[in-house]
Amino acid sequence: MIDCTPPITLNNGMQMPWLGYGAYDIAESHAEYWVIKALETGYRLIDTASLYGNEKPIGSAIRNSGLDREDIFLTTKVWIDDIRAGRVRQALEDSLKRLGLDYIDLYLLHWPIRNFMEKPWEELNLLLSTGKIKTIGVSNYMPEHLDFLKKVSDRPPSVNQIEFHPYHQQKPLIDYCEKHGVQLQAWCPLMRGQLQDHPLLNSIAHRYHKSVAQVILRWEIQSGVSTIPKTTTESRLVENFSIFDFELSSTDVIRISDLDRGEMLGENPYTWCF
Ligand SMILES: NC(=O)c1ccc[n+]([C@@H]2O[C@H](COP(=O)([O-])OP(=O)(O)OC[C@H]3O[C@@H](n4cnc5c(N)ncnc54)[C@H](OP(=O)(O)O)[C@@H]3O)[C@@H](O)[C@H]2O)c1
Repeated sequence: MIDCTPPITLNNGMQMPWLGYGAYDIAESHAEYWVIKALETGYRLIDTASLYGNEKPIGSAIRNSGLDREDIFLTTKVWIDDIRAGRVRQALEDSLKRLGLDYIDLYLLHWPIRNFMEKPWEELNLLLSTGKIKTIGVSNYMPEHLDFLKKVSDRPPSVNQIEFHPYHQQKPLIDYCEKHGVQLQAWCPLMRGQLQDHPLLNSIAHRYHKSVAQVILRWEIQSGVSTIPKTTTESRLVENFSIFDFELSSTDVIRISDLDRGEMLGENPYTWCF
């Protein structure tokens, strides 16, 4: 059983919370409000990307939160246009400028792109020495993509952020990442609310006096996968954060793991851009 109480120690020794706040699809005009709310609720990991168009208000939220910068773990990502154009270094500078911050905790290559794998990874490795990024990783990388990166560095990415929820579990990828010390992080962890009426999840939730969302998020972290649900509903912000006061039995973890049916909501990393 995974101990979800202390933070995760990544393969470079950095610590990362199990649970974060995902900021995809939060309008620029609302992002500062929601990230401040998330920080007030207790979230200490914030996930954004240059693609989301909300780095500027998220940087303001972090600067105006009253919290020490080192108490917040901020992730952002290089978008595919910058990867293709060989503009990784410039993309980092642009993100830092929009955020108004000196460094990013975790910087990810957003998607694997055919013929653009090794060079951007090499660039991220070099950028580590600037201190402007603390940890590097990837997103939507499958085992075949991760193998490309071995040509550049012996150290694998610290994090791989992937679509992960009860209907899409990618077990071969989990095994690969566990073997190579790559921490997985779930995007779309609630399957965008589509599992709310699932009978098994409802019956488990009923037994633990928890909601379906709480059971799913708890199952994710007990499965060793960090998770970053998004919400712009105040009660759900608190609900999604309240998953550290109960533990699913190993039987219930297995029951949920058995729901896998390879159903994706996002693009397929084997074919999209690759
Ligand atoms: N790396 C990548 O390629 C990638 C791709 C997509 C997303 N992401 C990241 O992952 C984060 C999460 O993924 P996501 O936003 O796609 O999907 P998600 O977190 O699975 O689902 C968000 C949806 O679920 C609803 N929801 C949230 N909490 C709920 C609850 N307790 N009960 C019922 N419904 C609930 C939200 O509605 P309300 O807002 O109305 O409450 C929203 O519509 C993103 O925000 C982003 O940071 C990364």
